[in-house]
This record gives sequence, structure tokens and C-alpha cells, in this order.
Amino acid sequence: MPELSNPNSETMTKKTNCRLVVGLFWGDEGKAKAVDVLGENADIVARYQGGANAGHTVYTGGEKFVFHQVPSGVLREDVTGVLGAGMVIDLPELVDEIRELKNRGIDATSRLVISSRAHLVTSLHKRIEKIQETKLGIGTTLRGIGPTYSDKYARRGLRIGQLVHKHGLEESVRKLIDSHRPFFEFAGEPVPTADEILTPLLEKSAFIEDMVDDVSLFLTDSIHAGKSVLIEGAQGSMLDIDWGTYPFVTPTSPALSGVASGLGIDPRLVEEVIGLVKAFTTRVGNGPLPTELIGEEGERLRGTGEHEWDEFGATTGRPRRCGWLDGFVLTCNCRRWGVDKLFLTKLDVLDGMEKARLCSAYKKDGKVLRAYPSTAKELELVEPVFEELEGWSEGVARKTKFESLPENAKYYVKRVEQIAGCPVGWISTGPNRENTIVR
Ligand code: IMP
Repeated sequence: MPELSNPNSETMTKKTNCRLVVGLFWGDEGKAKAVDVLGENADIVARYQGGANAGHTVYTGGEKFVFHQVPSGVLREDVTGVLGAGMVIDLPELVDEIRELKNRGIDATSRLVISSRAHLVTSLHKRIEKIQETKLGIGTTLRGIGPTYSDKYARRGLRIGQLVHKHGLEESVRKLIDSHRPFFEFAGEPVPTADEILTPLLEKSAFIEDMVDDVSLFLTDSIHAGKSVLIEGAQGSMLDIDWGTYPFVTPTSPALSGVASGLGIDPRLVEEVIGLVKAFTTRVGNGPLPTELIGEEGERLRGTGEHEWDEFGATTGRPRRCGWLDGFVLTCNCRRWGVDKLFLTKLDVLDGMEKARLCSAYKKDGKVLRAYPSTAKELELVEPVFEELEGWSEGVARKTKFESLPENAKYYVKRVEQIAGCPVGWISTGPNRENTIVR
């Protein structure tokens, strides 16, 4: 009888080349720039949650690229982009995005793997969200994200695999319509027809057919084969359905918790968790933002909109709300998600400010909190504790060496590290790839 070895003993102790980049705030921390920098030697860049609500902007070679569903890492030739099972796909928009990239010289058609388990956002979902938002007032991106995930969990959603194989597709669509019929009738809106929903999907189905695969198998094999894999979170930890500022959140798990289910991989294969933190805090849409600055200082951080990188939403164009860096959010999320290193973005935006303030804790009823409040109401009652640090007049913009930063900027970075409890590995000092300090 041949000897049987333990199949797991070797793989479980081996170091992998798999890293996760995750936003630690309310999204827009500059993930695309980080993925672009960190993806230099990546073979695969994978997304695991969300959909076209994301807007990841990369500046390279004097050009601007905005990604919504395609993982931004495909900008680099030879990188394969993975769209995970935890994503919801707006297929017509995805096909447009792939075609537009091709027109601009980035042909990703043979470099994409789409999970057959990812759910489809349909015109019905976008119509539902438009009606619901007038009542809920969450300030969503109106990309049909919430209603699509609701149908997924109600176990009546449509998946990529079903579209491609056409198994019982019409029947599923009719069931979907029937379950939402009372909603449309109550709202006095026409009930969508099966044709309306299906035609745009069927038209694009052939385009993606060859890209559809089992991402769990693809990624696990690739990681064990030593490939360099970068996993890219969309949105941010404070928009997490469980750990974010509920109900003003996105219906997914944008942090480490979403990786296992969204990609079907053992989360222990993730060798390094890189947390994204912007030098100030922003949020787009409604909900609490304890360090928010109303007035001149907030406008100074937002910018006028004259620069591409000013704080206006890449997906919706809405002005982002701005405030000082919220260190308590940073502390809590570094602890929750086991962040190994930070990627600090937009430090150059603080150039020329006389003082920089940093929130290091929250107080409630005179006591410093250890746990992040779980309700929006409690958050209204907290008092952010600010530290005032000296600003810097000499710029950090475009600097590439930590040693060449003004002393006050260095101090700011070190204070961020202390509050977070982990080191800053990268500092972004401008919008382009090369405006980065690697420490
Ligand atoms: P939804 O994801 O469209 O359902 O929107 C829910 C909340 O998440 C809203 O406050 C949106 O503004 C916010 N949101 C969704 N996607 C992003 C993003 O990529 N960046 C920043 N905020 C986002």
C-alpha cells in the first residue's frame, strides 16, 4: 500500500506572496494609487466585494483612469484581474469599462477572471434603489448595490453562472419580478418586464463567457504556486455592513472579513494586511463623521475641484465631507483587521497649513472610549479629542525620501504610527505613481 502524506502540512506553514489592501475609513483613501504602486510586481489583482459603486482613480503617464468594476491593477500589462464571488456585477457597465480601457490601449479582455457566483445588478435593482433612497436617505451611489445584495440574501438573485449557462433564467427573472411587484405597484411605478431586465444582460453575456471561472480554485492554485497576488478592497472599513456606521454603510464587508467569502480562499493565505489611511478624513453620503470640519478649513482640505484629485466623488461627482484625521477609527480598524502596515496618502494636501490637528481618541461623558460606538445616535454624543501639531510650510509634495520631509511632517507621520500601533510603510506625496515614499 503506498504511503499517504498529510496534504496540508507543507502548504499551511509556507509563506505566501498574497497581500490585502484595505481602506480603513469611509472609502476614498486612495486605494487605486496604492494598488498601482504595490501592484508593480503583482501577477494577479483581485476584488472581493462591492460593484460599480467604487471609483478607483489612477494617474499614470499623464493620463487619468477611473475604474469601477475592473480591478485597477490591470493597468499594468500581464496582471490578471479577478472579480470575486462577493461582488455584484453591472454587466453592461462592466463591458463598457473593458471596451473603454481597450480603446485607450489597455486590453484586459484575456486577463480577467469573473466568478460564476457573482450576482448581477439589473435595471430592476437600480429602479428599486431610486425609489427607496427618497425614503431612506443613506446617500447611496444609486448603482443598485443595496437591492442586489438584498435579493442575494433573500435567495432570489441572478448570478453570472446562470446567465452564461441560461439554466432556468427566464423563470428566475419572472420570480424576481413577482417578488417585487407589490413594491412597484405600491410606489405607483410600472412593474419591470422580463425583457427589460434580460435583454441588456443577454446582449453582453457572450462577451464575458470565456472570462467566467471558479475564482476560489484559480486563486488558491495561484497562491500556492507562489504567484504575487494583491487583493483590493473597495469602499472602506467604516462602510462595513457589520462594523461600519450602520445604517449609513454599504451592504458588504469591505475589510478582511469579506475576503474569505468573497474570494473563496483561506484567509490565512493573506500574508500581509496593508491599511489605507488618508492624511485627513473624508466621507461621501450621509451618516456620522465625528471629526468633520464645516466651513473654511473643511473647504481647504476638499479643494475647489480645480484639481482632478480634489475631494469630489469619482463615481457620483458629489463633494466629499472632510475633517481632521480620525485616529480613533484608525486604532479600532488596525486592531480589528490585523493591519501590518499603513499606506498613508495625500500627506501633501496638508502642505502650508499652520497647524495640523489629529483626533487621538473619543470621549463620552468625560470618559475615553475603548470600543467604537455602534449606533449613529451614540456617535453624535462623542467628543473627539484633538491634538494640535505644528504644520509645515516647506512642501512634502512630490518628495520620494522620508529623510527629506520637513521635521514637522515626519513628526506627524510618527504620531500616526503611534496611534495606529503599526508602521507606515508608504507615503503618497502626490497623485502620480512616482510621488511615493517607500520606507
Ligand atoms: P452604496 O454602496 O451605493 O449602497 O452606498 C452606501 C454608502 O456607501 C453611501 O454613503 C455611499 O456614498 C458610500 N459609498 C459606496 N461606495 C463608495 C466608494 O467607493 N467610496 C466612498 N463611499 C462609497
